[in-house]
Amino acid sequence: MTRRIAELLRSGQPDESVTIQGWVRTKRELKGFAFIEVNDGSSMAGLQVVLNSDLPDYETVLKELNTGASVEVSGVLVASQGKGQRIELKASSVKVYGDADPETYPLQKKRHSFEFLRTIGHLRSRTNTLGAVFRVRNACATAIHQFFQERDFLWIHAPIITANDCEGAGELFTITTLDLKDVPKTDNQEIDFSQDFFGRRAYLTVSGQLEAEVMAMAFSNVYTFGPTFRAENSNTSRHLAEFWMVEPEMAFCDLKGDMDLAEEFLKYIFNWVLEKCPEDMEFFNQRIDNTVLATAENIINNQFERITYTEAIALLEKTDRKFEFPIEWGLDLQSEHERYLSEDLFKKPVIVSDYPVGIKAFYMRLNNDEKTVAAMDVLAPKIGEIIGGSQREERLDVLEKRIRNQGMNPEDLWWYLDLRRYGTVPHAGFGLGFERVVQFMTGMGNIRDVIPFPRTPLSAEF
Ligand code: 4AD
Ligand code: MG
Repeated sequence: MTRRIAELLRSGQPDESVTIQGWVRTKRELKGFAFIEVNDGSSMAGLQVVLNSDLPDYETVLKELNTGASVEVSGVLVASQGKGQRIELKASSVKVYGDADPETYPLQKKRHSFEFLRTIGHLRSRTNTLGAVFRVRNACATAIHQFFQERDFLWIHAPIITANDCEGAGELFTITTLDLKDVPKTDNQEIDFSQDFFGRRAYLTVSGQLEAEVMAMAFSNVYTFGPTFRAENSNTSRHLAEFWMVEPEMAFCDLKGDMDLAEEFLKYIFNWVLEKCPEDMEFFNQRIDNTVLATAENIINNQFERITYTEAIALLEKTDRKFEFPIEWGLDLQSEHERYLSEDLFKKPVIVSDYPVGIKAFYMRLNNDEKTVAAMDVLAPKIGEIIGGSQREERLDVLEKRIRNQGMNPEDLWWYLDLRRYGTVPHAGFGLGFERVVQFMTGMGNIRDVIPFPRTPLSAEF
């Protein structure tokens, strides 16, 4: 049976006969023998393989063992003489599945820019950095399920196709099977979506929250974890058109409970990844951002700062720092403001709560002052907003008014309002941007480099 390299590096013993499969990372030829490093993606480190010139077809095989070639190697594990590894594999047979022409295979140099690697999105996962990113991403996803499953939350699968704009921000991708060359029109010359596939206009979802609320009214505590889509034309290092979101929703929960869960949740993820991916995290600390390990420890061991929006505005108005965007009570915080608060002022995550009603979505619960809503954002150093959440408006009359005030029609959301008609309860939830937490964890500067196939404006090739 073939063994995975991570497992061999952990627990393989000298004299064991093993077979491995993977891709050649490096080759070093010496007199009478050669070393290759084989990587199968299971860990950052590959396994060093020693090839002696008495191997069958030594010369021919060696010519094909270039960086990128796929191989199967059988042999015996031996204690390594060299530095840097505990064991190595003394090959008794080598099979090359596919070679990789050194003249054209692009991953020859040790280091490439991330911009260049994005142009070879089909190959970049074979590099050390992207390999480490996707192992950490996997660990984050596992941590998320573990966290909620331990707490009896039900994982629900929210639809990707929806008729609702949950955030009310109009950043929706329409999906249609109408003939774009001959679009049916209504009498007043609007597109007639009643003739479309779903008999109404449909979109890719921006959030699974409304469906999560439905399910929370049956299962108390639920979470979604799936892809969401936003057609915002923002070319930043923190925005994707397709990203994954985690959205817990809790019945019988208020804003304080929501903030407590968000904080506990982030700490859990960081702790998990430090435990499961020490080698990858060490790599990020050495090569990408020498503060990531300290940041992780800081997250795990300290309480997040909690301030209201009104307090945040006062702090932003007090500072000498010059911002590009104006800031005053009633305006939304821009990422420069969010970063100032978390990165420079408090030097740790900050939870800002109770935002003005005018800048937040219709479903957030109106506070008694009638000027603010029970919203909260978790702001992280370097990233800015990483979590956005709120207590939901559970009062039918108030909710109907909010929907109307935002220019929406309550009848379109009759089923959402039914949740307030039948057995309504105080409830709350939040959304974590999954890629942003992977970015935060790894120190990767651009969100395009923490998702295998980034979708951004003008970019969807791979
Ligand atoms: O703050 P947002 O828009 O909140 C919601 O969608 C709520 N329905 C969540 C809820 O209460 N259940 O988005 C939540 C998070 C943001 O804090 C951010 O981390 C991430 O999703 N996010 C993005 N990540 C990558 N690319 C984008 N374009 C993103 N837009 C939001
Ligand atoms: Mg938000």
